[in-house]
Amino acid sequence: MVLSPDKSSSPSVMPGQVEQENKAKLSLVYEISRRVGNAPRMTQMLEQVIKMTQKTLNAEAASILLFRDNDQELYFEVASGPVSKALRQVKLNAQYGIAGQVARTGKPLIVNDVSRSERFHKMIDDTTGFSTKSLICAPLVVHRRILGVVEVLNKLDQSEFDEQDLEAVMSVSTTAAIAIENTRLHQTVLDAYKNTIRTLAAAIDAKDPYTRGHSQRVMEYTLLAATYLSFSQEEMETLEYASTLHDVGKISIDSHILVKPEPLSPEEWQVMREHPTHGANLLREIPFLEKASELVLCHHEKYNGEGYPRGLKGESIPIGARLIVVADSFDTMTTNRAYRPAMDFESSIKELHRCTGTQFCPVAIKAFLSGLRLHTSQQAGREVQIEETP
Ligand SMILES: [Fe+2]
Repeated sequence: MVLSPDKSSSPSVMPGQVEQENKAKLSLVYEISRRVGNAPRMTQMLEQVIKMTQKTLNAEAASILLFRDNDQELYFEVASGPVSKALRQVKLNAQYGIAGQVARTGKPLIVNDVSRSERFHKMIDDTTGFSTKSLICAPLVVHRRILGVVEVLNKLDQSEFDEQDLEAVMSVSTTAAIAIENTRLHQTVLDAYKNTIRTLAAAIDAKDPYTRGHSQRVMEYTLLAATYLSFSQEEMETLEYASTLHDVGKISIDSHILVKPEPLSPEEWQVMREHPTHGANLLREIPFLEKASELVLCHHEKYNGEGYPRGLKGESIPIGARLIVVADSFDTMTTNRAYRPAMDFESSIKELHRCTGTQFCPVAIKAFLSGLRLHTSQQAGREVQIEETP
């Protein structure tokens, strides 16, 4: 049998204050995030917007340019048309050109013959080989702040852009600006949220000096393995939270039990075995982490049904939890513990093989070993052989 990831523990009653503080922290971030809204991936959304705009205006090309780190340079965030790929590498000095002027002043422009415009800057056409004849450019404004511009180029039927076209582009730019702002806020909240989770995980690990960095490594192993299976972006995020917080239920366990070098008493083991339930109960109350709570609950289940707390078997254990079990066990085996020194890499792999089909799910082991092979090969700068499970 593989060494248990949890030598000791005692989830006793959650200390009210710690529990309340942690819940409040996580709930606050969740609440902000809920209000901001779950924006889809920004680039994907903007690509759709710009393609629709180009088609609706019967134009040859369209693009969205955004300021990034400062208000001096505009980058092509998305573009459609014959040179869209080439534009991804291009940035514009906002002091020049029609886009620069619109981005600086916030006033839209229609230019139906660029060859007669002093403001037109030929640099992009020279770089990409595109030939701009006419254009509409509108600012992306939100809360009086200019984020960038929308540009639509060349009517396909050679006609001129008119006020109606401008109205359409303005309405696109208004919606796109709000969506961009929401996505950025959402990302900021998500980053803050992940930081909170990392802080919580570090607090758990810090209770036992031997487990420093354990949660982070388990998360990394788990996500690496998950790339070899079919998880959606949302499922990957759930997996990230669950693997980082798998032992959150230990937060209330007395440290003397966690670091105890001697074998645990039956009573202490009983306490220890409750930590997945305590962790899941804690996370379940935070909507953002509700899905992760199920994986946390199952992170000590065994493939043959001999795990805890519910004794689930085989595929009735969520695949995400089956991955965490392997990552957790591997990291536990390969690091020192109060009660034993670390096993070497080869012996740990052998142990994983030996327990495949009993403690570990074969699919999870295969994905884990693929991830580990890639990781160790990258670290070593050469291909490292890791034997497949026979
Ligand atoms: Fe655990």
